[in-house]
Amino acid sequence: MVPYKQGRNYQTGQKLPSLRNLSASLSVSIPTVKQAYIELERQGLILAKPKSGYFLTHQCTSEQPRKARLPNKPMAVSRQQLIEDVFKSIHQPHNLALGVANPVAALPITKTLNRTMRRVMSVMGDKALHYGSVAGYEPLRRQLAFSYMEYALPLAPDDIIITNGAQEALNIALQCVAKAGDVIAVESPCYFGILELIENLGMLALEVPICPEDGLTTQDVEKAIGKHPVKVCVFSSTIANPMGCVLADDAKQQIVELLENNDIPLIEDDVYGDLYFTKKRGIPAQKYSKKGLVITCSSFSKTAAPAYRIGWIATHKFSQRCAQIKRSLSGSSSHMIQITLFEFVRSGDYERYLTQLRGVLVTNKARMINMLQQLLGESIRISDPKGGCVLWLELDKSINSADIFQLALQQNISVSPGTLFSPSNRYQHCIRLSYGLPWNDRVEEGLKVFADICRSVFPSQ
Ligand SMILES: Cc1ncc(COP(=O)(O)O)c(C=O)c1O
Repeated sequence: MVPYKQGRNYQTGQKLPSLRNLSASLSVSIPTVKQAYIELERQGLILAKPKSGYFLTHQCTSEQPRKARLPNKPMAVSRQQLIEDVFKSIHQPHNLALGVANPVAALPITKTLNRTMRRVMSVMGDKALHYGSVAGYEPLRRQLAFSYMEYALPLAPDDIIITNGAQEALNIALQCVAKAGDVIAVESPCYFGILELIENLGMLALEVPICPEDGLTTQDVEKAIGKHPVKVCVFSSTIANPMGCVLADDAKQQIVELLENNDIPLIEDDVYGDLYFTKKRGIPAQKYSKKGLVITCSSFSKTAAPAYRIGWIATHKFSQRCAQIKRSLSGSSSHMIQITLFEFVRSGDYERYLTQLRGVLVTNKARMINMLQQLLGESIRISDPKGGCVLWLELDKSINSADIFQLALQQNISVSPGTLFSPSNRYQHCIRLSYGLPWNDRVEEGLKVFADICRSVFPSQ
């Protein structure tokens, strides 16, 4: 084996010295070298190949997608048919699920959750299967309220309402503070579930563009509310889907102040908040609220199990009204699953799992960006998410991602076409890909097929 030499340059794809070799050359312990390699892998600089060792990854930085130019007028939404068509296709179990944002698939926690649920059933018996209270299992609400104490956010258990996922939380929050015909400001691009809600509730969407690096700007929000009668804003708390950008805490504070000065409620969607790749978790916008006009929506879907369908709303001012709407929509959420999640969090398993999951996702992200850069080079722009589980790709303007979507499906690969994420048919040339899956040969093969498909629709030079 070639001994490690200090100052030596390594080429892309080259094998790095073994742990033992490097530890001997540098006179440091093997665990120290291992730790350093793990950190480099986390940063996407090197790649571990099973039974082969560590390799230097390809390092080229592709450009970020551009901030969109938007019509800047409220509009009725009609995405439902498109969403339905895409959903039918992407949720086929045999497809490689690059179109589904399901981060926990990258590191399933099934065994632990099963064990916890069995324990709950044996201790609680029939009671676990009974109806629970409308607002949800009190110990879980207490625990969630307690978790907001970390940000000095004074929420009581009664300020938390358990829902069927974040989707129901957003639905209830919207119904609570707006009605049909009202203008709802959303980020652009925006998570399509929010657009579908706006459509169903007969409201109008106003797109506010987000910057790929920093998310929303106060100026853009100010412009939107200055020009149009915005009733409510629905924005990501910190980590946006599909762009993956992070809204800095000071920008968040300015936006909350601006909205509250104009008596505009903010519904913050915090489902990806715990899946951050930055040093610290972003602070919920509600922390900066002085008038109580911020309603926080989140869930365990991206951090434990989407099938459990457990989410929550956190609001003091609107809690009673939200509970009424919850009762009318679905009564209560599954009692047994709430108890299971409570035990999962209480045991410390949840926090340990989140740390591992973030590590896997950040590595997957680096792998996927590296592969796409190698396969498609400068012909695409790729987002650099600071959290979450999706990449946003921008292709040549002439390309229709609906064609790529169809061609990929024929090869049993699901992707999300860009038009899902805008009410105004923007982002036709964009695609969202998820790296929330267990990384294996099938993913790598699938990405190669995806790149071939993209190349086949690229305009000829
Ligand atoms: C940004 C965002 N908000 C809300 C949801 C809905 O989450 P849940 O599955 O908890 O209803 C999703 C799911 O994909 C999402 O990506």
